[in-house]
Amino acid sequence: MRAVAIASQKGGVGKTTLALNISLALARRGWRTLVVDADPQGAISLSLKKELEVAEGLTEYAQGHKTLDQLILQTRIPELAFLPVGGIKGHRPSQIEIAQPVLDDLVEQTAENFDVLMIDTPSGLSGRTLHTLRSVDYVLVPMQAEPLSLRTLQGVLEIIAEIGDQTGLELAGIVLTMVQSRDEISLETVQEIWSLLPSEMVLEGFVPRDPAFLRASAHGVPVSLLSRRRPPSVASVFDRIAAELEPRIGLTQEGDDDIVHLLD
Ligand SMILES: Nc1ncnc2c1ncn2[C@@H]1O[C@H](COP(=O)(O)OP(=O)(O)OP(=O)(O)O)[C@@H](O)[C@H]1O
Ligand SMILES: [Mg+2]
Repeated sequence: MRAVAIASQKGGVGKTTLALNISLALARRGWRTLVVDADPQGAISLSLKKELEVAEGLTEYAQGHKTLDQLILQTRIPELAFLPVGGIKGHRPSQIEIAQPVLDDLVEQTAENFDVLMIDTPSGLSGRTLHTLRSVDYVLVPMQAEPLSLRTLQGVLEIIAEIGDQTGLELAGIVLTMVQSRDEISLETVQEIWSLLPSEMVLEGFVPRDPAFLRASAHGVPVSLLSRRRPPSVASVFDRIAAELEPRIGLTQEGDDDIVHLLD
């Protein structure tokens, strides 16, 4: 199993959107995927389930109240499962510390049943996020396509490298998000990032800014599930990103045993 954290210094850059939509794309590509919501605000839990208050998850696991078997929820997509953040009673999210050994255990205990563990973290690189980064194999960093983002990137890469020296954590890549294809500054920033950073660092697939994301959050679904017949065109970028991510995190489709024959 490959454990991947989605992390960024800045808030609101598209971590949760990325975690949810890439996970769905990976699941549809046949990987048994578990999305873990480690953000106490429970944004993924919110987007998947409206009555999030009742959902228990990572918090109860950390407190030793429940086992993973009791907490992991199967979604309607067979390969996609979900561990909510839990700890939410009424409207107050629990900010309890999720200790390093809890996250290490989570990774160890899910290794057998899943191919990919995708962990959405709260913004900033301390606390839970730092613990998560110390437990996983890879980190994926979303970066908003705006000039300010480049300034914070160096610091983020240094922290990842420092952790990597101690734990082996590797950067799976940087994904540009909220790219405004009709906005010159946004496009210039994309060009600048591509020219400044080595190509192995930045994925070619990026997420355009699109009103479909707001609609998707409002309905509590990943973008590609907004409509069965006509999913918004932006949904296809996640399939591309997932395909690019696979070799970066060491997922390879073996042979052709999963060919489905039309007739027996
Ligand atoms: N490509 C996009 N185009 C338009 N809106 C987007 C896009 N990606 C995300 N959004 C919207 O921007 C907001 C922030 O996105 P998201 O929650 O994914 O960011 P985040 O990094 O997880 O934020 P936080 O740091 O608060 O956890 C959400 O309302 C989301 O619907
Ligand atoms: Mg988030």
